[in-house]
Amino acid sequence: MPPAFRCPSCANPLQESAAGFGCERGHHFDRAREGYVNLIPGGRLRSRPAGDDDRMVKARRAVLDAGLYSPIIEAVATEVSLVRPRFILDAGCGEGSYLGRTAELSAALGWGIDVSKPAVKLAANRHREARFAIASSYTLPFEDETFDAVINVFSPRDFPEMRRVVRAGGVAVVVTPGPHHLAQLKALLYDDPREHAEVAGGQDGAERVSTVRFDLDLTDPAVRSSLLEMTPYWWSATAERRAVVLATALEVTVDVRIARYRFDTSPDVPEQGL
Ligand SMILES: C[S@@+](CC[C@H](N)C(=O)[O-])C[C@H]1O[C@@H](n2cnc3c(N)ncnc32)[C@H](O)[C@@H]1O
Ligand SMILES: [Zn+2]
Repeated sequence: MPPAFRCPSCANPLQESAAGFGCERGHHFDRAREGYVNLIPGGRLRSRPAGDDDRMVKARRAVLDAGLYSPIIEAVATEVSLVRPRFILDAGCGEGSYLGRTAELSAALGWGIDVSKPAVKLAANRHREARFAIASSYTLPFEDETFDAVINVFSPRDFPEMRRVVRAGGVAVVVTPGPHHLAQLKALLYDDPREHAEVAGGQDGAERVSTVRFDLDLTDPAVRSSLLEMTPYWWSATAERRAVVLATALEVTVDVRIARYRFDTSPDVPEQGL
């Protein structure tokens, strides 16, 4: 059975119809024009994590469309293809490029969730063949053991939740920044870049961890500003700092870790290191 979204109010499966998505208890969720469904309805916004805003999402789309992160996208898609998946989830999918390519390479069906409405909108608009919802990675809106593979790229993650929705024999592929990731930008933006180093996800229990590292040429000002605008550091920097970075950042290192976790048992059996 292909995965179905789960009702955020009662956890029953949501059936899709011309009218939108509904469960047997009568909870209803509209389908947006772009095809996605919002499973974090208005009344719950208080505790909702913010997610990327419109500017960050569009900048990320520009960077990915320019092919700047293609080695990472291809590496993720290749890792996932090894398990010959039929159903793939991207938890924290952003504007959808990773899910789109990963599902394409494996000829699989893709589901993507993210808390950011502008991200999900953009993703759903381009990837009509995949299903998207506004939802949190901390409460994935799916039944247990639904997917053959879950990917999580530069996004907040909850290992027990990812583990829960992957079937026995499936995988999770997690991308986290390495120690040199965007180091030149951080050095320019902060007095003490170490303080702002991203916390790398521990890779305990991973079946395999690979490194993707390369340098990006930022001499094209359009590319440079898109790369800057998609990073959280940019929006927290002062105007003076931004001016310096725009004038001087001509090359930057991309350095990421791609960890593959294989789940050989059902999720209720505790896994070492997760
Ligand atoms: C750095 S972006 C990465 C997006 C995409 N995976 C990519 O690499 O292009 C982080 C993403 O995590 C999303 N996010 C933040 N908190 C989240 C949560 N609790 N659940 C799901 N997504 C979340 C943001 O909205 C944003 O799209
Ligand atoms: Zn319901």
